[in-house]
Amino acid sequence: MSWNWRISLASFSRGWRTLAFRLTAGYALAGLFLVFAATASLYFVLRSELEKSTDLFLADKLHVIRTMLRERPDDWDALHEEIELESAARKYEQFYVRLLNSQNRLLLMTPGMAEQLDLSKFKSSFHQSDHAAPMQGKSGQMFRVTSTTAEVGSPPTATDTIQIAIDVSQKEKLLARYRFWFWTFLTATSILFPLIGYQIARHGIRPVEEMATTARNITSTNLRERIQTEGYPFELASLAATFNEMLDRLEESFERISRFSADIAHDLRTPVNNIRGETEVALARARSTDEYREVLGSCLEEAVRLSDLIGDLLFLARAESPLNQLRRERVDVGQLLNGVREYYEASATDSGIVLATAFGDKAVIGEMDRMLIQRAVGNLVSNAVAHTPAGGSVVLGAEAEAAAIRIEVVDTGAGIPTEDLPRVFDRFYRVDSSRSKVSGGTGLGLAIVQSIMALHGGKAEITSQLGQGTRVTLRMPFPGAA
Ligand SMILES: Nc1ncnc2c1ncn2[C@@H]1O[C@H](COP(=O)(O)OP(=O)(O)OP(=O)(O)O)[C@@H](O)[C@H]1O
Ligand SMILES: [Mg+2]
Repeated sequence: MSWNWRISLASFSRGWRTLAFRLTAGYALAGLFLVFAATASLYFVLRSELEKSTDLFLADKLHVIRTMLRERPDDWDALHEEIELESAARKYEQFYVRLLNSQNRLLLMTPGMAEQLDLSKFKSSFHQSDHAAPMQGKSGQMFRVTSTTAEVGSPPTATDTIQIAIDVSQKEKLLARYRFWFWTFLTATSILFPLIGYQIARHGIRPVEEMATTARNITSTNLRERIQTEGYPFELASLAATFNEMLDRLEESFERISRFSADIAHDLRTPVNNIRGETEVALARARSTDEYREVLGSCLEEAVRLSDLIGDLLFLARAESPLNQLRRERVDVGQLLNGVREYYEASATDSGIVLATAFGDKAVIGEMDRMLIQRAVGNLVSNAVAHTPAGGSVVLGAEAEAAAIRIEVVDTGAGIPTEDLPRVFDRFYRVDSSRSKVSGGTGLGLAIVQSIMALHGGKAEITSQLGQGTRVTLRMPFPGAA
C-alpha cells in the first residue's frame, strides 16, 4: 500500500469517527428517507386517483349505453350519436366504444378504434366485468379498457357486449413528469441534506472544538485560561463551567505547591546560610579551641533544625501516600495524654504555665496509631505552651462521643486573629512570628496534626479568641467509643 493511500485511509477512518460526520450522516439519511417516503406515497396516491377518475368515467359511459340498450333498444340514432359521434368529437382523452351482438357480430364502433387497438386482445384478455384494465395501443400509447355485457330490451330479448377503451396517455405523461421531478428532487436533496447537515453539525459542535483548543493551550505555567461560555447551549455551558471549575481547583493546587516549594527553599536556606556564614568567619583566621567549640555548637544547632525540618517534610510526604499504613492499637487516651503532659511539664513550669489534664471517670479507649497521636498532641501542646504567657494554663482533655473520640488542647494564651484561623493548618503558615515566645517554628506543626487526623479518618478543628485563648479539637471516628 503506498504512503498516500495510507494517509487518506487514516483520515477517512478518522473522519468516520468524528461527531460531525455521524450527525451529518444521521440527518442526511433521516431527511432523505422522509422526503423519499413522502414523495413516493404522494405519487402512488396521485396514480390511484387518476385511475379511479378514468374508471369512473368508463363506468359512467357503460351505464349510459346499458340504459339505452335496455330502455330504447331500437333507437339506433341515439346509440349512433353516443358511440360513434360523441367520442370522435374529443381531442384529448379520446375514448372508443364497440358494440357486439350475442353472436359477436359488430353492431356499432367508434371510428378509428380498429386502427388504435388490437381488437382481438379485447375478447381474449378480459373477463366480462365493469373493472377496467390497462392495455397498450398499436402506436404505443396506453389505454384503459373494459368489456362487459348488457341486456337488450325490457324484458331482455338478447345480450350484447360493450367494449370501451379510453386513451390515458396524457395521464401517463403527467405521471412520467412527476417521476422525473421526483428523481431530480431526490438527487438534489441527497446532495443538499449532507451539506446542510454538516453545517448544522459543525455549528453545534464548535463549542466542543473551542473547549478542546483551550484545553490544549493549558500548561502548568498557563493555568489562567478559561473557556468563555457565553452563547453556548445549556448542556455545553454546564460542561464548560465544570471544566472551568476543575481548572480553578488545579490552579489553586499548583499555586499551593509552588508556594510550598518556595517556603521549603526559604526554610532550608536560612540554616544552611547560618552554617556557612559561621564556618567562613571561623576559618578566616586561627581561633582558640573554645571559639571553635562555640562555632561547632552553633552549627550543630542549625543542623538539628535542618534535620527536624527535613524529617517533618518527609513525614508529610509519606502521610499523603496512599500506601501509608497505620499501626493501629488499643490505646488508653488518658494515659497517652498524661505521657504528653509529663514530657512538656518541665518546659511549661519554666514558663510559669500550668499544664493539666482533665478527664471524666470513664477511661477513653480507642484504636489508633499511638506514636502518631502522641506526635499530634505534642505539637498542639508545644504550640499552646509557646503562645501562652506566664500565669496561663494549658489543659488536655479527652472524651468518648457516640461514634468518635475527641481530644482537646485548650490554652489561655494569645489566641489567633480570626482572619488567620482558616490558614493555620496550611504548611509553613505562621501567624506573625514576632508574637511567638519561641521563635523559629517552621509552620509545619499543625499541618502534621491535620495529616495525622486525615490518616485516622478524622479532622482537626481550631477555635480561638484573640487575647483569650485557643482550643484545638481532634476528632477521630471510632464506632461504639462511648
Ligand atoms: N495555641 C496557639 N495559640 C496561638 N497561636 C497559635 C497556637 N497554635 C498555633 N498558633 C499559630 O499558628 C501558627 C502555625 O502553627 P504550627 O504549629 O503549624 O507552626 P509553628 O508552631 O509556627 O511551627 P512548628 O510547629 O512547625 O515548629 C503558629 O505560627 C502560631 O502563630
Ligand atoms: Mg507548632
